Amino acid sequence: QWYFDEDGDLSVLAGKTVGVFGYGNQGRSQALNMRDAGIDVIVGSRSDASAEKSQEDGFETLPLAEAARKADILFVLVPDEVMPAVYAEHIAPNLVPGNVVNFASGYNVHFKKIVPQDDVDVIMLAPRMVGQGVRDTVVAGVGFPSLVAVHQDATGHAWSTLIALAKAIGSTRMGVIESSFEEETVADLFNEHFGFLHAVRQGVEVLVEKGVSYEAAILELYASGEMREIGQYFVDHGLFDQLKLHSRTSAFGQLAWARPSPEAEQASKDHLRNVIDRIKDGTFASKWQEVQEGGMKEFEAAEAELQQQPFWQEELKLYKRLGRI
Ligand code: NAI
Repeated sequence: QWYFDEDGDLSVLAGKTVGVFGYGNQGRSQALNMRDAGIDVIVGSRSDASAEKSQEDGFETLPLAEAARKADILFVLVPDEVMPAVYAEHIAPNLVPGNVVNFASGYNVHFKKIVPQDDVDVIMLAPRMVGQGVRDTVVAGVGFPSLVAVHQDATGHAWSTLIALAKAIGSTRMGVIESSFEEETVADLFNEHFGFLHAVRQGVEVLVEKGVSYEAAILELYASGEMREIGQYFVDHGLFDQLKLHSRTSAFGQLAWARPSPEAEQASKDHLRNVIDRIKDGTFASKWQEVQEGGMKEFEAAEAELQQQPFWQEELKLYKRLGRI
């Protein structure tokens, strides 16, 4: 179900102070949009470049714990990896009954890395838009879609607060969709685990195996920027309708010839089902936590392993030649 501007009542936020914790990609854009909507916004930040930016933009900028004491509604907009520690140290000890805690991603609450006390509202306002777009689309008057959900309703008013906040950040202009912390988490991680990067890698490797040079293969599959243009067609026209913008040869190739055989499709869907199962049962989240606790050694090893491959080296050479690095 969708909700729009007419469903949100900003007057439910009257007299409330919204604290934005983390003045980064999402924090800055959401704070600016809310201020323009007439909301009383303060910023909580560690002392870094983001805090300076927030001051420059004219927001009252306080240390995280101090802002947590002052805010009635808390937007937790620090990176997901550091969020449990920031929440435990600066936010949780300063919450009072009736506060509202808002997340832009379901991850930490869904996987219980953060378990808020039961006398506060816990809501999610998750933009389907990068940070800069959250500001730019609102300034342009169109807004952006979000997934929204109530995880915990201590006050009995969590839903009306959520839709009012969705309006304040400019999202109900385009519309918000009722979702859940789990749905947002699964869909978001699936997008990352879907395998786009490795599909392109395999494409280049097989082209090279079949006699195409690395330069030609890399240019063809992504470096030329054609893929960005096609991605834009997807956004503007839809996955299937964008085919009209291609030659008939290209459209037939994409539509009919590129379609995997039923057996290959079964195998790749089985793989994707397994990917989702490992997200849902928490295997990925536990592994990622283990990697971080281990000082990111596995992350670095995975990167180092790929850096040894001829592909990476060839890409480096090409990108130097193209003047991109
Ligand atoms: P970000 O990477 O821009 O960081 C935000 C701020 O966190 C930084 O400005 C920094 O001051 C602060 N910070 C970083 N480490 C810290 C630490 N150890 N202690 C205290 N403060 C620290 O974050 P971003 O990308 O805006 O993400 C915030 C939330 O929004 C996340 O939950 C993310 O999943 C969600 N989100 C992000 C989207 C995006 O396009 N970036 C899209 C939709 C949701």
